[in-house]
Amino acid sequence: MTISYLLTGVTGGLGAKVLNDMLHKHKIHASDIVATSRSEGSRARFESQGLHFRIADYGRLETLEAAFNDIDTLLFMSSSQRDTPARSAEHRNVIEAAKTAGVKKVWYVSLALGGYGGDSKVGFQQAHYATEDMLVQSGLDFVSLRAGIYTNAFPLALNWYPSSNFEPPVDQGSVAFTSRDELGEGIATLLAKGLGAFPSVTPQTASRIILLTGPQAETLVDIVKAIDKVRQTNTPIQILEPDAWIDACSMDDEGGKGRAWFEARLVWLQGMCNGEAELVDPALETVLGRRPETGTETIETLLTSEPDYYWHQNHVVPPKTR
Ligand SMILES: NC(=O)c1ccc[n+]([C@@H]2O[C@H](COP(=O)([O-])OP(=O)(O)OC[C@H]3O[C@@H](n4cnc5c(N)ncnc54)[C@H](OP(=O)(O)O)[C@@H]3O)[C@@H](O)[C@H]2O)c1
Repeated sequence: MTISYLLTGVTGGLGAKVLNDMLHKHKIHASDIVATSRSEGSRARFESQGLHFRIADYGRLETLEAAFNDIDTLLFMSSSQRDTPARSAEHRNVIEAAKTAGVKKVWYVSLALGGYGGDSKVGFQQAHYATEDMLVQSGLDFVSLRAGIYTNAFPLALNWYPSSNFEPPVDQGSVAFTSRDELGEGIATLLAKGLGAFPSVTPQTASRIILLTGPQAETLVDIVKAIDKVRQTNTPIQILEPDAWIDACSMDDEGGKGRAWFEARLVWLQGMCNGEAELVDPALETVLGRRPETGTETIETLLTSEPDYYWHQNHVVPPKTR
């Protein structure tokens, strides 16, 4: 018996929101959805909701071949792996398994650096380009959902911790920051209703890209001002040269991150400052049926409800274990 949806990434922040909305907003029956994880430990919490559960580990092709059996539509969340060749190899496994299993439709969650183009210099983006190319070659019916830069990850962009002062960004440059919850809501709606429900949202280029972004590009300085507004502080804005930014951040970093971490991060930050994430697209607004939140609006909400807001990737050593 064919099951309508298999969702990867549902133990993570974005996929959890997609699953929640598919079940509770779009009223898709739990028995029409397969939830997946690399970990058997996740089984009980999904099966207790009436969902199917299968192991899907992008690093182990055999798990994918078994998981994708009798699946109509696959939500393919990009891997958390940061090494480009390793990430591309994992994604190749997903595509091969989807093809072998005869999956009918693949929604790949990619990243919006470089807009609709293929010229981003940022390391993270390269596996996304390679994956889109593999999807084209596969002959699968797919869409690449290039997701805007999460507003929720703003502590990472600014190396911001609730308990400390922070080093302002290396430069100005605008980013169409996007709320992770609204991305999840939009993706769930696309999966549930299909592209046919949104005639103006058409995949672009051979890579079949739909760009999902917030409604306005804002600078990192705007983000600092939003933090100040909620915390009633007045952070001095200092534009640092790259080396000085690395020195300042790594000197006494609260997460224990060293120079190498900030050197790698700088490439991403410079990509953002060069405007690689500034393109605003109306697709998310169309799919949500309302204007999405700007980055500064989301940050004000996040910090008002949670003054000690924490973003896990900002910490090399989790604070609870230090
Ligand atoms: N747009 C942005 O600004 C932005 C920011 C950060 C990340 N991302 C990307 O978006 C994805 C989702 O974001 P998120 O915030 O939901 O991340 P998250 O909370 O870290 O969750 C990652 C999810 O992906 C699954 N996953 C990761 N690697 C996998 C692999 N090799 N095989 C199978 N499943 C794997 C994990 O499943 P299990 O651990 O249960 O196996 C988990 O459910 C991330 O993986 C990353 O690629 C985008």
